[in-house]
Amino acid sequence: MSSNDRRNKVFVTRKIPEAGINMLKKHHEVVVSPHNRVLTTSELINGIKNADGLLCLLTDPITAEVMDANPELKVISNYAVGYNNIDVVAATARGIQVTNTPGVLTDTTADLAWSLIMAVGRRVVEGDVFTRAGRFSGWDPMLLLGSDITGKTLGIIGMGRIGQAVARRAMGFDMPILYHDVAPMAQVEEEYHAQFAGLDELLKESDFVTIHAPLTPETRHMIGQHELRLMKKTAYLINTARGPLVDEHALVEALKEGAIAGAGLDVYEDEPELAPGLAELPNIVLLPHLGSATLETRTKMAEMAAANLLAALKGKRPPHIVNPEVL
Ligand code: DGY
Repeated sequence: MSSNDRRNKVFVTRKIPEAGINMLKKHHEVVVSPHNRVLTTSELINGIKNADGLLCLLTDPITAEVMDANPELKVISNYAVGYNNIDVVAATARGIQVTNTPGVLTDTTADLAWSLIMAVGRRVVEGDVFTRAGRFSGWDPMLLLGSDITGKTLGIIGMGRIGQAVARRAMGFDMPILYHDVAPMAQVEEEYHAQFAGLDELLKESDFVTIHAPLTPETRHMIGQHELRLMKKTAYLINTARGPLVDEHALVEALKEGAIAGAGLDVYEDEPELAPGLAELPNIVLLPHLGSATLETRTKMAEMAAANLLAALKGKRPPHIVNPEVL
């Protein structure tokens, strides 16, 4: 047995679908955290003290301090496409491979962004609450009037895989599409008849603005008070990417004052906390970070995270490495 084939120790920070755990167990000793919650820093540190591989979640901050608990740590496999929870620079400096799960959750997350577009535009949740409360007393020409979706302008901030999947769906609704990204993308313009726009222009022109950008120091609070005031009073903001992309306090104010018509959020600035006042607003739909939450997708993510980790511990290039410069 070569040293690469020996049974390594793997620490998994929370229960994930069995398919991934079983893959790991075939080759390595696996410890899954017994707590069904986010671990404290000291619990994380204890968990990785003897581990060669770490499988962690987007809720686990993997800082230099955590990495330094074990100089033998070889790979950090994130069970998410976004990896803003990991200090990748620190990992690279320590020769630790970082991996993620892109692709498998693209359609699932785009579907959820669309669920929010429909829910806020057509007041689906308000209608449900109203009906359950026994307040439906018959068809009313003025009851819960929402906004058309078909034919309205969709603004997509971040035209990567998920942004494009959202655009693909928008074509079925005959929506003109504006998009903003670091640079224009010819293929996107051809495929989705989308038009590149500066952020301000996109915000001014769109009826639905949906965010699909990664969270980086540059994109943090890319939507703040100034940007919200550029939007139409009849427009809606959707965020299924990362909470800190939006200044949540500014969003509460904008919604209270009617600067925009409504919002649909799946992610929050300080998850799982909500900004004061957010949950009291009627013109917002709030979900508990469900972007990739289908059985099929979470299972594929578990398999992908396991495959990344197994490859790294075998001395092979993981299929989805974030910092290939460490190889
Ligand atoms: C991701 O993978 O980044 C998603 O937010 C998980 O739902």
